[in-house]
Amino acid sequence: MEIHCSPEVSSEYLDEVREILRDKEFLSLCQYCHHQRSNRLLHSLNVSYISWKIGKRFGCEERAAARAGLLHDFCPYDFSEETPTGERQVFYHPKAAAENSCQHFEINQKEREAILTHMFPLGPVPTNKEGWIISFADKICAVMEVCNVAIALARRNRVVVVSAAA
Ligand SMILES: [Fe+2]
Ligand SMILES: [Fe+2]
Repeated sequence: MEIHCSPEVSSEYLDEVREILRDKEFLSLCQYCHHQRSNRLLHSLNVSYISWKIGKRFGCEERAAARAGLLHDFCPYDFSEETPTGERQVFYHPKAAAENSCQHFEINQKEREAILTHMFPLGPVPTNKEGWIISFADKICAVMEVCNVAIALARRNRVVVVSAAA
C-alpha cells in the first residue's frame, strides 16, 4: 500500500511526515472503519494536517503537531475488540497508540504526551500546546466524519491510498 497526494497537499507538510507515511503498519490503518464513514488512516491524516496548519499559524512546533496528529490513533486493531487490560477502548487506545508509535518511530516526549492526552476530557489534560491542538482537531474531524462532511485532505481526492501492485 502507498499514499498518493495531489499537488494541493503542502510539500512542506509531507516533508515532516514522510517517514510515517512509508510505514506499512501505519498504512494498514486504512482497513479500519472510523467514525462510521471514514477509515482510521484518512482520519489520522486529517487530524495531522489540520493540527500542522494550526500549529504553524500559532507559532507552535508544527512538526510535533503533524507527527503526533498522524500517530494519535496508531492502533491497528478493531476498536470493537476487548482491550487486554479490560479498560474501555476510549481510555485504552491513546496508550496503545503511544506505545505502538514508540516501537515504530523515534517520537519525542512532546509527541508522546500529545498522543496520550488526545481524548481529553475523556482522559488526561493535555500537557503542551500541541496536545491541545490535536485534541481539538480530533474532535472537529470526528464531528465532520460522523456528519459525512469531507474537510481538509478528505476533499477532492487530495489523498488516495493505493495497493503497491496497482
Ligand atoms: Fe483517538
Ligand atoms: Fe482520532
